[in-house]
Amino acid sequence: MQKLPEQLIIEGKEYNAGDLFVELIPKHVAVIMDGNGRWATMRNQHRTTGHRAGAETLKLIVHTASKLGIKAITAYAFSTENWKRPKLEVDLLMMLLDKYLTEEIDYWNQNNVKIIFSGDETALADKLQKKMKNAVKTTANNNGLVLNLAINYGSRAEIVRATKKITQEVLEGRIVLEDLDEKHFGEYLYTSGLPEIDLLIRPGGDMRISNFLLWQIAYAEIWLTPIFWPDFNPELFINAIRDFQKRDRRFGGLNSK
Ligand code: FPP
Repeated sequence: MQKLPEQLIIEGKEYNAGDLFVELIPKHVAVIMDGNGRWATMRNQHRTTGHRAGAETLKLIVHTASKLGIKAITAYAFSTENWKRPKLEVDLLMMLLDKYLTEEIDYWNQNNVKIIFSGDETALADKLQKKMKNAVKTTANNNGLVLNLAINYGSRAEIVRATKKITQEVLEGRIVLEDLDEKHFGEYLYTSGLPEIDLLIRPGGDMRISNFLLWQIAYAEIWLTPIFWPDFNPELFINAIRDFQKRDRRFGGLNSK
C-alpha cells in the first residue's frame, strides 16, 4: 500500500505522517470541539476566549486534514441545546461565527475548501444567515476538502426533519413507501452527498455523543482524548488517524484483516 510523504509541513512546522497509508485515510471525520470553556477557565479567562482559541484550532485541523487527503470534516460549532447557555456566551459564539465567516473566506478559497452547513439556520440572526449563504456561494466551486459546520444542529431534530420531508413526499405521491431504504433516507439528512463518517473525534474528556450525527456515525470509529479542543493539534490529529488505521473495521461482519 502507498504511504504518505515522510514529512507534512503545516503552518511552517514539520509533522511525521510517513507511516500512514494513503488507502486507509478516513474520507470523512467528525469532530466535537469540546473543552473550550474549561480551557479558558483554567487560565482565569472568560469561556469565550476558549471558543476563540477553538476556532483557530479548527482552522489548523482543517488544514492538516486537507494535507492528509481527507475529503470532509464535520465540526460541531453550535448545538440545538447550546441555546440554554448564558445569553452572553451565546451572543459571543454567534459573533465569533459571524467573524469567522467574514474573515476566513479568503483563507478557505486559497486552500480550496468548500464550506457547507448542517442545522436549522432559520433560528439564527438574518445577518449570520446571509454570511452563511455567502460562504456557501463563494466556496461552491472549490473541489478540495468540504468543511461542514454544524450550527444550530441537533441530530434528533435532523432525523425528525428528514422524516417530515419524506412523509410529505409520500403524501404527495412522489415516494412509494416500499421504496424507502437506508440509502434513500440518508439523502434527506444535511450530510447528503458527503462520504460516510469513518472517524469521530471527541476531545475534552467526555465520553458521549451529545446528539451529534446519530444516524451517520453508525459504523464510525471513535477516538477520545482528555486534551481540551484549543490544545488539540496536528500531531494529535495524525495520532488519531494512525490509531484509526490500526482498527479492524468489521461493519458487523467478520475479520477483514
Ligand atoms: C464545546 O465546548 C464547544 C462549543 C459549544 C462551541 C464550539 C465552537 C467553537 C470551537 C468556535 C466556533 C466555531 C467556529 C467555526 C467559529 P464547551 O464550551 O462545552 O467546553 P466545556 O465543556 O469546557 O465547557
